[in-house]
Amino acid sequence: VSLPVHHTLRVEPFGYPLVIGAGDGLYPNALATFGAEKASSVALISDAQVAATGHLERVEAGWRSLGVPSLRLIVPAGESSKQVSVWAELQERLAAAGGDRDLWVCAVGGGVVGDLAGFVAASYLRGVSLVQVPTTLLAMVDSSIGGKTGLNLQHGKNLVGAFWQPRGVVADVGCLATLPTAVLREGVVELYKHALLRDAAWRPARRGTDGFILPNVHEQSAWSALVAAAVQVKADVVAEDPHERGVRAHLNLGHTLAHALEGVTGGTMRHGTAVAYGLLYAAMLGRERGWVDWVADARALVAWAADAPLPAVDWGAIWRFMALDKKRRGGRVRLVLLRELGLPERVDDLSPDELERTWLRLRSDIQGGVV
Ligand SMILES: NC(=O)c1ccc[n+]([C@@H]2O[C@H](COP(=O)([O-])OP(=O)(O)OC[C@H]3O[C@@H](n4cnc5c(N)ncnc54)[C@H](O)[C@@H]3O)[C@@H](O)[C@H]2O)c1
Ligand SMILES: [Zn+2]
Repeated sequence: VSLPVHHTLRVEPFGYPLVIGAGDGLYPNALATFGAEKASSVALISDAQVAATGHLERVEAGWRSLGVPSLRLIVPAGESSKQVSVWAELQERLAAAGGDRDLWVCAVGGGVVGDLAGFVAASYLRGVSLVQVPTTLLAMVDSSIGGKTGLNLQHGKNLVGAFWQPRGVVADVGCLATLPTAVLREGVVELYKHALLRDAAWRPARRGTDGFILPNVHEQSAWSALVAAAVQVKADVVAEDPHERGVRAHLNLGHTLAHALEGVTGGTMRHGTAVAYGLLYAAMLGRERGWVDWVADARALVAWAADAPLPAVDWGAIWRFMALDKKRRGGRVRLVLLRELGLPERVDDLSPDELERTWLRLRSDIQGGVV
């Protein structure tokens, strides 16, 4: 039996460990590293789809091996669980169970569960210890790292929340095997984005225009290495800018158009699809100013990862959402572009005209199949 490689990284300045790997010993060992045996009990917060896979049992067994009693709190799968009423219900359940200050919260799921459970941990008794167990690729390489927690309001996504750092994060790449293909691909889009920010050799290589060369989901050592590399990018950025005042914005590569696309489609477009289009848009804007040309790679990513067409809306609709974003950011439309691969830069001198022209080109190129 070949043991999968485990990787342990640290998120500075907080110093908590991120453990990436697979196999039987993963959870007990990782939890022990986090000091989790000090917990009086643990609330395992998960969603119904994850609970049906068997991953939750393995996490629970890890806690049991430390002698910590657990309570399961299962919410419906999907973005709609990231709301105030669900958060309130969970708080009541913790109080009803007699949860004290030594209760730990353990999020077992994708970004939805991580953001929700993270905010539960940040707010219950003014804050209790948190462990993140991300089960989607997106959550492993992105949302479980950096301490952002949050809920949606009717007025918009992630408008409520807090920075709340976990005691540790444990990513079991064995969880990837049960992910629906579309959800795995969404994660690959974010992983690809992280690789672009570093011009990293582990960037998934494209195979013609119809796909990417990625390890099989059962190749756990290969996935551990890939996830660890992508996690390192996020951990580095968080370390440099823990409270999102500067370089952490580089993680928004591809996300300005993505948020507008999610807005105009009323949240029906998959985030990964929207980001793939957003990356292609950023690539085209960069090429316009004579910066590195990675349009062909971005085009291949769209062809492989996008599972919905670009919405047939005019520029005005997109612009309204970008302008909303702009208002929140203090008056300028700001995009991240790549000067070179691995050299992201925030750009705020793009004219509305340039943004519109490139949107029209993106649309006609996608429809015409040529970039
Ligand atoms: N906090 C942050 O820094 C941050 C960063 C990026 C995104 N986010 C948030 O993350 C959320 C999106 O996260 P997501 O893409 O992981 O979505 P998600 O949590 O909704 O998971 C996607 C689907 O996969 C299912 N699932 C999860 N793990 C599974 C597994 N191992 N096997 C089978 N099914 C599984 C879930 O039940 C769900 O139906 C959004 O709410 C977004 O705002 C937060
Ligand atoms: Zn994203």
